[in-house]
Amino acid sequence: MNETIRQSQPAAYAAIDEATRASGFTMASDILTCSLLRTLAASKPGGTFLELGTGTGLSTSWILDGMDADSTLVSIDHDANLLAIAGRFLGGDARLKLVTTDGEQWVMRHLAERYDYVFADTWHGKYLLLDEVLAMVKPGGLYIIDDMLPQPNWPEGHDLKVARLVEELEGRGDLVVTKQAWASGILIAVKR
Ligand SMILES: C[S@@+](CC[C@H](N)C(=O)[O-])C[C@H]1O[C@@H](n2cnc3c(N)ncnc32)[C@H](O)[C@@H]1O
Repeated sequence: MNETIRQSQPAAYAAIDEATRASGFTMASDILTCSLLRTLAASKPGGTFLELGTGTGLSTSWILDGMDADSTLVSIDHDANLLAIAGRFLGGDARLKLVTTDGEQWVMRHLAERYDYVFADTWHGKYLLLDEVLAMVKPGGLYIIDDMLPQPNWPEGHDLKVARLVEELEGRGDLVVTKQAWASGILIAVKR
């Protein structure tokens, strides 16, 4: 076995990838992470999905590809230019709601919502408002984060934040956690 992804990529992925490169966006999720996101998405038929940090929609396209027809995905980002790229290629998917908003504002306005699957790929839901976002995960639901291994774009001191976050997640009695030192460094948790 090796890491080659032999299953077909989401239809929009290559075009989003090209537009992402042209845009100069450098925080894109890597393809291995995206593949895992799709596999995990397929475990929640009829599910409610949340992505915090759409970027240009690369991870979004893989999550959508794993979801069934009855599932829905809310994906938020504060950068309208990035969301415009996601919207250009994925906006026709009725299961997807793209929201241009600040993460804090969105989370604080949707505290009562519950999700089967949360991919937290921005500050909120990782380093900010962690308790609030974890409360949005249904029992049996998935909470997934990446970039837990050192990345070239980390600001000084970010490694300490990562270490604190991982320790906090592992210390929670309501989460069953697995860490994967693979791809950009993944942590998957299931809510008890
Ligand atoms: C790691 S990138 C997301 C990558 C994306 N999931 C992908 O597959 O390429 C983090 C995203 O968080 C967004 N972001 C940063 N600060 C934010 C905030 N305060 N509110 C909402 N989004 C924010 C950035 O615009 C960026 O697109």
